[in-house]
Amino acid sequence: MVLIVMALIVMALPVTVLVIRPPGNPQKLTIKIGRASPVRAKMARQYSQKIHTAKRSMGRTDLAITIETFEYNSDNLGFLLHDNETGATAAIDAGSQDGILQVLQRRNWQLSHILITHYDWDHTDDIPPLKEKFNPRVIGPKKQAGAIRGLDVLVDEGDIIHVGNATLQVIDTSGHTRGHISFFDPDNLNLFCGDTLFSLGCGRMRECDAGTMWHSMEKIRSLPDRTMVYCGHEYSAANARFALALDPDNPALKKRAREITDLIAARRPTIPFNLGQDKAANPFLRASDPELARKMGVKEADPVRVFAAIRKAKDNFA
Ligand SMILES: [Fe+2]
Repeated sequence: MVLIVMALIVMALPVTVLVIRPPGNPQKLTIKIGRASPVRAKMARQYSQKIHTAKRSMGRTDLAITIETFEYNSDNLGFLLHDNETGATAAIDAGSQDGILQVLQRRNWQLSHILITHYDWDHTDDIPPLKEKFNPRVIGPKKQAGAIRGLDVLVDEGDIIHVGNATLQVIDTSGHTRGHISFFDPDNLNLFCGDTLFSLGCGRMRECDAGTMWHSMEKIRSLPDRTMVYCGHEYSAANARFALALDPDNPALKKRAREITDLIAARRPTIPFNLGQDKAANPFLRASDPELARKMGVKEADPVRVFAAIRKAKDNFA
């Protein structure tokens, strides 16, 4: 009798197991387990390409964060990080109020935080209207405080941010702009790096020298291979063309370039991408490789000089 009752309860509350394979990361399977109505299950399938749900570590397997990605402008990418236990939700950069509102409404989330990587307009323009609507805590780079309207909290290298129970470490990744910061989630291995690193590429050096940008590359390179990278632009196809012209025999690069072609053909985002794969394929993360130094004609194999040469070649690449 007890078994029959239990069976009826299980049938009444179906448990849905979604296995989501983030694009560009064949190794990492993320699994979300929960009860779901058929409608919710359909919605989850529909958006599974754009959702990266990661189980929290620290042995708390009932807790999780959810990351949503959306596109705006011609090639910008925006992200929302949601702490499933507390409901806290952070927008990473605030360049598109519309994009953020659409995700919030669809998910029934409330915006509690905005995390700003750098002052460029396409990352900050919609801070004021979002502040007015949700009164979120706006956290941004201390070194760019004067250039960003509406910051409540100024942070710098080594600071820790909490979004509900989710923890993010601030890394100074100056190079594209001076004082640019990135946010690293060490529990679930996610990096939000603005315009510092792109899949197979990196940001233009607008205010810093090659040494500063290379130092930021080294910091990112030191993060675990399983890290998933959420960058501010979808530049993967153009970056792949340049990288292949420079380093045509690199097997990791050829594999990632094929993957990018397939993803774009299937109208799927190439972001987030796997950092370990990018370490092997992205020439900007490989400036310390003597083989790349030889290809760039830098005899002493000084990584800063190699990096500068690669950046200059990319800037002039048709
Ligand atoms: Fe930028």
